[in-house]
Amino acid sequence: MLGLRTCLDPRDAACQTVPMFEHKPRPEWIATEEFISNAVVHPDAAVEQAIRTAAEAGMPAIEVAPNAGKLLKLLVQLSGARRILEIGTLAGYSTIWMGRGLPHNGKLVTCEYLPQHAEVAWANIDAAGLGERVEIRLGPALDTLAALAEEDREPFDFIFIDADKQNNSRYLDWAVRLGRPGAVVVLDNTIWEGAVLDPGLDPVNAPGIIDALKLLGDHPKLDATVIQTVGSKGWDGFALARIT
Ligand code: SAH
Ligand code: DHB
Ligand code: MG
Repeated sequence: MLGLRTCLDPRDAACQTVPMFEHKPRPEWIATEEFISNAVVHPDAAVEQAIRTAAEAGMPAIEVAPNAGKLLKLLVQLSGARRILEIGTLAGYSTIWMGRGLPHNGKLVTCEYLPQHAEVAWANIDAAGLGERVEIRLGPALDTLAALAEEDREPFDFIFIDADKQNNSRYLDWAVRLGRPGAVVVLDNTIWEGAVLDPGLDPVNAPGIIDALKLLGDHPKLDATVIQTVGSKGWDGFALARIT
């Protein structure tokens, strides 16, 4: 399960010393996902552009799958969310899916610490016609979250956590502080090729993923479940929670 994917952040010491964890999709999972995507999901040109420009810029293909992006959009619409917080922008793929679910007066704040990712993402978000509704906050997400808490703003209705897994529990704590009661929280990458039962598969990321699952189960202000998934991103899953 340990492959040699390129480093996401060369400043991260673990990147230099530990082989990067690689997701291992089965061919039939990928083919089935493609069928679903073509038959049901219908990704638009703007989200396709986010995938293409990410590849061209040498960014890892770690955006959510198309059916998961569509799920995010539908969850935004079903919950009636007007204010979205995203942690982990990459090329703006999930940002655009969620932005598609916002009403015209809706807003989305997305956190990214790599300037080159933010630059590619901004071009994609703007091309998607979401430039007025989306704000990219550059910098370590924990700093941005602390800054958001100091600002005079309405609480978020929807929070999507999808960045460095070591900080998952801290991001969940911030989600509870920044979200309103009844807000939706989605946490990506909760199964991680089974590393949730066998942390040795990825000693860098598994502990953060496991700790966050425990927190989701125990937090007095979170009511949560976890869904396992297979597809182009391998065997993984996401947590869906409601702030009580
Ligand atoms: N949500 C995106 C994928 C995000 S990948 C999608 O589905 O399309 C994770 C992103 O989080 C990467 O771009 C990475 O640079 C960023 N990231 C990782 N650690 C971060 C941190 N501490 N603060 C801000 N961004 C971070
Ligand atoms: C990785 C990160 C993700 O957020 C994801 O959905 C898949 C893979 C990664 O860092 O390998
Ligand atoms: Mg993810």
